Amino acid sequence: MAGGIGSRFWPMSNEELPKQFLDILGCGKTLIQLTMQRFQDIVPAENVWVVTGERYKDLVYEQLPDVPKKNVLLEPCRRNTAPCICYVSTKIKKRNPKAVVVVTPSDHVILDVPAFKEAINESLEYTSETDAIVTLGIKPNRPETGYGYIKADLGFSSARMKNLYRVDAFKEKPDIDTAKQYIALPEYFWNAGIFVWSVNTIVNAFRVYESQMWKSFEALMPQFDTPKEQKAVNEVYENCKSISVDYAIMEKAEDIFVRPADIGWSDLGTWTSLLMLSDKDVYGNALIGDNIRVFETRNSVVHTTHLREVVVQGLDGYVVVEKDGALLICKLSEEQRIGLFHE
Ligand code: GDD
Ligand code: MG
Repeated sequence: MAGGIGSRFWPMSNEELPKQFLDILGCGKTLIQLTMQRFQDIVPAENVWVVTGERYKDLVYEQLPDVPKKNVLLEPCRRNTAPCICYVSTKIKKRNPKAVVVVTPSDHVILDVPAFKEAINESLEYTSETDAIVTLGIKPNRPETGYGYIKADLGFSSARMKNLYRVDAFKEKPDIDTAKQYIALPEYFWNAGIFVWSVNTIVNAFRVYESQMWKSFEALMPQFDTPKEQKAVNEVYENCKSISVDYAIMEKAEDIFVRPADIGWSDLGTWTSLLMLSDKDVYGNALIGDNIRVFETRNSVVHTTHLREVVVQGLDGYVVVEKDGALLICKLSEEQRIGLFHE
């Protein structure tokens, strides 16, 4: 999934160049390239699909040259992750109705790749033989309101896979008080937004919980891989509602399992997540850029790209970021609203 705009990461990430196409970690690879790399021993490039906005197609071709162009699906407008998953699942079903699929965001950081592979391979094995939906669960370390939370039944692990637990409830993006209650309890995990299922299972879930959406994509199947596909897809998208897979399917579906995964995961969706990953000075500041000096400042992120000199005094828990003539100064505790501020 590579069609989001990373709005909470503005102004580093913006509609023209969203964060999945940026080398945010400064390691020489963009987030989508790192995502592809993580799967290199799991799935051959010809079985990798990318769903993205029409305007990002050249970025995808350029950054992921091994992915066949016919596997790069283009959306005319953003409709969030449910239509994206519905479309690609229909395509995969047509190509191989027996496929098992990993759905992954393209803008995450995963530090422990061997542990990630183990979790994915186990989940693939399980979903190739069952109708389960498996999601990777991360032990929360803060009451993040930008994530989905999974309540696992820790007493009920799968008979065949001891690392998989039945999911009691799935709650997408709770408010801060609810998130605080959740993180105090051992049975709650963050939803990493990485799902594993057979194509049949997800298609059936769409059939039940989003029947309208499913029908409109199913009707396109005869036109897939013909010159008429894109126009027909565009029409479906224009009329499709915008909803995430978490609200559309995960909050409603049964037979969900969570695979707890200690994999050094971060969504890198927000400035706080970057702060947590970055090298910090003794006052907990991440200073990214040249000639940045801070005084009486703590727990803050200062990130600049083109400024000759930057001086910050007296901030605690703030983000200061400049890119291409745009400047943001915001309290980190309010960062979920950044996307709304600059709309
Ligand atoms: N193709 C396509 N089209 N991709 C999209 C679209 C779209 O319209 N909207 C978002 N995406 C991509 C994003 O680029 C990202 O890679 C992924 O889908 C997830 O979307 P986000 O917008 O980043 O979701 P989120 O971070 O708010 O929430 C999801 O991820 C969290 C963990 O990172 C949910 O699954 C949460 O439950 C989860 O905790
Ligand atoms: Mg995200």
